[in-house]
Amino acid sequence: LIAADTSLPLHGQSVLVTAGGTRERLDPVRYLTNNSSGKMGYALATAARKLGAKVTLISAPTALPQPAGVAYVAVDSAATMRTALLARYADAQMVIMAAAVADFRSPTVAANKIKKTATDYQLTLTKNPDILAELGQQKHHQFLIGFAAETQNLLTYAQQKLTSKHADMIVANDVSSPQVGFDHDTNAVTILQSNQAPQQLPLASKEVIAQQILQVALATRKLQA
Ligand code: CTP
Ligand code: CA
Repeated sequence: LIAADTSLPLHGQSVLVTAGGTRERLDPVRYLTNNSSGKMGYALATAARKLGAKVTLISAPTALPQPAGVAYVAVDSAATMRTALLARYADAQMVIMAAAVADFRSPTVAANKIKKTATDYQLTLTKNPDILAELGQQKHHQFLIGFAAETQNLLTYAQQKLTSKHADMIVANDVSSPQVGFDHDTNAVTILQSNQAPQQLPLASKEVIAQQILQVALATRKLQA
């Protein structure tokens, strides 16, 4: 059993990984979501397990099989993902927010299917809580990794997220470039950490990118220890 190997760098450590695009319900048959496939988060969960961690994968709905050897928590909306994270946060050594959390939700969920109207239909949306920022505010021993999905000004926006959310690391994704980010099997990212130069991970499979992200995180944690 891999997880029993005490020489592994994440042996005995509890790692929470979120994945997938949250679903924000409008009525019993409709919801708002995004293009996230969950592949990056699932690859990170598997990579962390191989490094010896006790992994909990908190996942919005995806088309992917549950990875072997990880605890699996099925969620749907940002609100249910937040509750699942907060319940486990105190006991976690590392949290990886790979999920594409919807920024907005409908303030009400209709009990019945919304009927077609004769005229245009107006959707009003309420802001969702920023889960990563909330975890950043409550952080003590946890190593907190966030993602930044951008289509412009990648490093500027990602740096702002690193600072404002009190993350230890932001994995910046240019989701407008080919083969990168949402719904692809490959990715290319830039890792931002405070007081360190940005590190670029060139195009590779999401499995390889996941292993590299964890290697960078482990190296930083060693420096901090
Ligand atoms: N995130 C979160 N809760 C939200 C929105 C985002 O925890 N309500 C997390 C994501 O999981 C990701 C990071 O914050 O790790 C950045 O998400 P992103 O969508 O790139 O940034 P936002 O802060 O939402 O800003 P914007 O979408 O305007 O770029
Ligand atoms: Ca967002």
